[in-house]
Amino acid sequence: MIHWFDTTDSTMLRALELAREGAPHGTVAAARVQTGGKGRLGRRWESEIGGLYASIVLRLAPHPAISLALGVAAKETIESCADVSADLRWPNDVLIGERKCAGILAQAEDSFLIAGIGINVEQTSFPEGLDTPATSLAIETGGRAPEIERLLDTLVQTVLDWTSRESAEIRRAFEERSSFVLGRRVTVDGVAGVTEGLDENGFLLLRTDNGVQTISAGGVRPIC
Ligand code: BTN
Repeated sequence: MIHWFDTTDSTMLRALELAREGAPHGTVAAARVQTGGKGRLGRRWESEIGGLYASIVLRLAPHPAISLALGVAAKETIESCADVSADLRWPNDVLIGERKCAGILAQAEDSFLIAGIGINVEQTSFPEGLDTPATSLAIETGGRAPEIERLLDTLVQTVLDWTSRESAEIRRAFEERSSFVLGRRVTVDGVAGVTEGLDENGFLLLRTDNGVQTISAGGVRPIC
């Protein structure tokens, strides 16, 4: 079931309330505007009208590949509904070219997870100074962005599908769909290296001057 809010602080908080009241697996809190949108690593998520902001209750045992599954699902949804090609930047940003069009925040609670997904759909401009420059489906399709409700229906089905799969299959799918995980020169929070794939937990392996480091969290940026 999808619970729509015209405006809310964050769908993460609405989904958390719904889950604590016993909402079943797959319940969604979605908003047209968020006044306190939360991003990864304590950042803010710009949440003006025109974006898709949704948090899905997942009654699954947490495992590290879930976060990758959410990225794969968001990329697949965007590609099938908007007919554009997208890339995945570990752990789960969706980029079109060098610009970010979707971000994911996964929050684990005692007996469930909340998967928060933001997709830039109809916006035509973004604030200056974002950590990664942003784009939207409207910009990328010349004004032919899919309807937000249809995008959300597809997203929920795709998320439920990918998060139900085995970790190894999810990792493989992510590796196949991302230009960032193998042989890419990047920095992660200031440490430079070349990516060497994912380990069995879905963590990023980075070959640096001091050997291979296992990255469990952080912001990956390409070195051009
Ligand atoms: C990121 O890339 O930093 C993650 C962004 C996640 C944004 C979504 S929008 C829906 C849900 N509600 C929030 O407050 N955040 C997530």
